[in-house]
Amino acid sequence: MASLKSILNTLIWAVLLLIITPAIAVSDEAFRNCVTTNGIRNVTSMQSKNYKILLDYSIQNLRFATSQIPKPNFIIIPQTNQQVQATVTCAGKGGYEIRVRSGGHSYEGTSSTAESPFVIIDLINLNAVKLDVATKTAWVGGGATVGEIYYAIAQNDGGFGFTAGSCPTIGVGGHFSGGGFGLISRMFGLAADNVVDALVVDAEGKLLNRKTMGEDFFWALRGGGGGSWGIVVAWQIKLVKVPPVVTSFSVPRHGVDNVAALMQKWQKVAPTLEKEFYLSVNLAAPNNTAMAATFNGMYLGRKPNMLKSLDSSFPELGIQANESREMSWIESVLFFSGLTGSDVSSLAARYDSNKLYFYAKSDYVSTPIPLDALAGAIKIFQEQPLGNAIFDPYGGRMWEISSDSIAFPHRAGNLFSIQYLVSWHDEKGDSEAYLAWLRKLHAFMEPYVSQNPRAAYVNYLDLDLGTVGKNSTSPVAEASKWGKRYFMDNFERLLQVKTRVDPHNVFRNVQSIPPDVRS
Ligand code: FDA
Repeated sequence: MASLKSILNTLIWAVLLLIITPAIAVSDEAFRNCVTTNGIRNVTSMQSKNYKILLDYSIQNLRFATSQIPKPNFIIIPQTNQQVQATVTCAGKGGYEIRVRSGGHSYEGTSSTAESPFVIIDLINLNAVKLDVATKTAWVGGGATVGEIYYAIAQNDGGFGFTAGSCPTIGVGGHFSGGGFGLISRMFGLAADNVVDALVVDAEGKLLNRKTMGEDFFWALRGGGGGSWGIVVAWQIKLVKVPPVVTSFSVPRHGVDNVAALMQKWQKVAPTLEKEFYLSVNLAAPNNTAMAATFNGMYLGRKPNMLKSLDSSFPELGIQANESREMSWIESVLFFSGLTGSDVSSLAARYDSNKLYFYAKSDYVSTPIPLDALAGAIKIFQEQPLGNAIFDPYGGRMWEISSDSIAFPHRAGNLFSIQYLVSWHDEKGDSEAYLAWLRKLHAFMEPYVSQNPRAAYVNYLDLDLGTVGKNSTSPVAEASKWGKRYFMDNFERLLQVKTRVDPHNVFRNVQSIPPDVRS
């Protein structure tokens, strides 16, 4: 039976919720007046003829572009930081939820949909990238894409690079907020490890920098996940020095037994290769009897050194000299974006014309997966609807940075991460069948991946791990189900930061960090 204390706690909670939940009826007209009075011209409502085009432009997962998905009352495209501040204030007065959008790649649509009336603040025009060669840093607008950073770096001849994900249309707003792992993270860490300052609009509409927000807030911004803390209107990043020549390859290997054996070896080799070496695997079955593993490699150095390293550590891969190519670092960015041969300016293109419907899940592995388990997973890969999995090696710099240095926690001890993916082209495709396949694979892997908690990467957001509904009476308990998986021991500190910087939960979504008003 519930104790008196727990009943009292629940009552206190209910009262607190009544106090913190805005009970204002939304008024589109009042909101429009508020933003236009503040000089904001780019205000698109449901009645505007460009509404759907603007809304869909940056939705990268077509699951969130269907007619059943709740749509925003307004899309605001600010031109200045001050306009972001004003929109936050107007949304607060009007009782709207806020969804902030950078590149729109959220796996669960957290930048484009909500349960209550909401406005999208789309940062697409806050995308300037300003390099400062003297300090080897750059200021990057919160709505820029990583491709726009790579392009700006390519315009400068300073031998610089940056460590972030490989898909050029990912936005820095969400990507850096969750960490940002890429092909040179074993050498330089995550994107978020290389953030040195940030400009944020907070829950009260104030513009803060690192000094004025304080170190706890700045810590949470780097890896604590997008959408919980405020609106990052700019990041200051540290550029890295890359060598003039790197070596890249993407080599497929086939056969069920061969792939299982290669994967068994890869798990031991890839996390312990020299830091300069990134060697990931993409597993996918071409049909229900075959199996393929594509080994994607990028070495920060010349081909002979790369070959020497692989020949001694991983001779089973049997890499041939003609399977890899020397190139500049920026060419390698084009290569892994599938843009080889395109002009470097294509990295800055924001619109992806090959959008898909997709689901994803993630895992971390600290003990090599046994051969029979790999064979069992391969059997699932061969079942319809044929998804894939990307195995990203950790080690190197990823192990050197402590797990509480920033809010992203997955460091020493993690051999690699796994991202399971399943995608389809047609809205009429039965999404339940895809989700069922993904869940089956994820369930099968449980004994072989990290435990207590089974860790996951917040940038591969997964609502199966739990959600906090808008009427939840115990949001912290609900959030801890997924929060501990994404943030491990950093979750408690994130709760404390949230409680201090956004006690009324202005920045929220179904998997944001809630304020802790329990005590
Ligand atoms: P989006 O705009 O949807 O934002 C994601 C979340 O962050 C939302 O909750 C949003 O409200 C919030 N947010 C956005 N801008 C914000 C801002 N300025 N301030 C505060 N909050 C903000 N990851 C990785 O580590 N390595 C990789 O190589 C890849 N590759 C990759 C490829 C593809 C095709 C996809 C779809 C995704 C990836 N990712 C990835 C995952 C990616 O890092 C993740 O989806 C990011 O959250 C995407 O950030 P966006 O700004 O694009 O998304």
